Order: sequence, then structure tokens, then C-alpha cells
Amino acid sequence: MPQSYALVTGASAGLGSEFARQLAAKGLNLLLVARREDRLKALADTLSQEFGVSVKTLAADLSQSNAPLQIQQFCDDNGLQVDWLINNAGIAGPDLLTDRDWHEQQAFFQLMMLSVVELCHRFVPAMAARGFGRVINVASVAGRIPRSGGCNYGPSKAYLIALSEELNLTVGGQGVNVSALCPGFTHTDFHQTAGLSDMKAGMPGWLWYGAETVVNDAIRGVEGGRPVVLSGRLYRWLDPLFQSVWTRRFFRIKARPE
Ligand SMILES: NC(=O)c1ccc[n+]([C@@H]2O[C@H](COP(=O)([O-])OP(=O)(O)OC[C@H]3O[C@@H](n4cnc5c(N)ncnc54)[C@H](OP(=O)(O)O)[C@@H]3O)[C@@H](O)[C@H]2O)c1
Repeated sequence: MPQSYALVTGASAGLGSEFARQLAAKGLNLLLVARREDRLKALADTLSQEFGVSVKTLAADLSQSNAPLQIQQFCDDNGLQVDWLINNAGIAGPDLLTDRDWHEQQAFFQLMMLSVVELCHRFVPAMAARGFGRVINVASVAGRIPRSGGCNYGPSKAYLIALSEELNLTVGGQGVNVSALCPGFTHTDFHQTAGLSDMKAGMPGWLWYGAETVVNDAIRGVEGGRPVVLSGRLYRWLDPLFQSVWTRRFFRIKARPE
């Protein structure tokens, strides 16, 4: 008899580790996925001791196209029924126009978009058939408004928002809630990994939220069936501005001064 599990990608750091902690605290068994297995195993030991849940780990590189199938096979082989799917792994990524290595670009899109949509493809139909599922696709406020520069991270997150909204409409009536989580700036390893520590140090502290708040908002949002979860009061306030035609016009004028 398969056992119910929450699958968390990118669980070796930041928001993913916090998702693991908060879901374990709810009594959910966990499958933690990322490349750094030593970190996953250390977290698994801590959470299984603290919360008495089963925590399994799988080292996988989600920028490789075979990773989602590898994850599904691991679940099938070990009798894990994925009832919660947290597509969280992500990086800042290359600039579409100035970084000239296409393989690096392709690996980025594989990680940020294709791995997410493939994991949804592999796990959501079974959730719908069982009549229960929770899916959180970690997007970003960067996916809520186009800006000049990059042309890569923001659009990849905009895709996750569109995907989540449409999935939520499609399977919400079958007990499967799908949410795109849109955090603003959050204290994790993300900016250090991207070589943006100086940028972070120069920014005002009030723009930043803790991972605990963001993950708490995400779990409450998906339980409430919300297709898009803006995390943090500041970003909930800013989002209507981002969606306004006037803000979009402002960004257009700023990008193309006459
Ligand atoms: N921090 C922010 O300000 C912010 C804001 C908005 C959205 N987000 C989004 O939040 C999500 C989590 O990021 P974070 O802030 O928690 O950053 P983080 O602390 O750097 O954690 C990133 C996680 O993604 C995993 N990962 C990266 N590349 C991977 C790959 N190829 N295969 C498998 N796992 C991979 C990392 O694990 P390994 O290195 O061990 O593989 C790590 O566990 C991302 O999708 C990010 O875009 C972050």
C-alpha cells in the first residue's frame, strides 16, 4: 500500500528547506530532491527525529532532462504516493542575449520550466484520480511584470504563473489545488549563489522577507485554493501596481527614452 508523501525540489537550501520543515511539522512524510545529497541527508535526519515522519532523499539535477522520470521511478520503486508537489528548485540564470552559451540557456529553461511542467504531468493526473492534491510552483514577483534586461528569469516565472492558474482551473474541482507562489526578495542563498551579495547588501532591509513567512503564506494559499499567492504585505500591495497598464507604460517609456 503506497504511503502519502510531499515531494520538495530544491530542498537543500533556502525556501525548499523551509517547505520541508513546515510540511514535516504538519505530519507529512517527505521526499527531498536536490543535487547536494549531503545537505538533504542532514536535513532528513533532523526532520525525521524532530517530527517523527519518514524523510527520503534523492540526488537529482533538474537541469538534466531525465530527472523528472528518475524521480517518478524512485517514487514507484519505493511505494511513495505524491500528494503534495512543491516545485521549488531554481537559480537566477544567464542573460538571454549577452550570455552566448546556448547549452547553459537550455539547462536553465529545463530547470525552471520543463522540469516543473513534467513533474506536474507525471504526478497531477494521479492526484486528480484520487481526489486530493496540493501543488505549489515557486514563481516570483519577477514573473508579474516585464522589465528590460535578462529576458530569462522573469519570463520563466511568468510561465509558471500561467501554468499554475490553468492547472488550478482544470483540476481544482477534483480536489487538487495548484498555486503559483510569488515571493519578493527573500533571505535565502539565492543571491549569494548568483554572485549578487553586493546588490543585496545595498538594498533596504524592508524589501526583504524571511523564508518562514513566505512558506507559511504559500501553504495557507494552496490550502485556500488560491491560484496565485503573493507573499508578504509589501508585495501584495505592489502587485496591483505591477498589473496596471500605467506601470507597464512607465516601464516601456523608461526602456525606450525618446
Ligand atoms: N530568494 C529570493 O529572493 C526569491 C524570490 C523569488 C523567487 N525565488 C525562487 O525561490 C526558489 C527557491 O530559491 P531560494 O531563494 O530558496 O534559493 P537557494 O537558497 O539558492 O536554494 C535553491 C535550491 O534550488 C536547488 N537547485 C538549484 N539548481 C538545481 C538543479 N539543477 N537541480 C536540482 N536542484 C537545484 C538548490 O539545491 P542544489 O544546489 O543542492 O542542487 C537549492 O536547494 C527558486 O525557484 C527561486 O527562483 C527566490
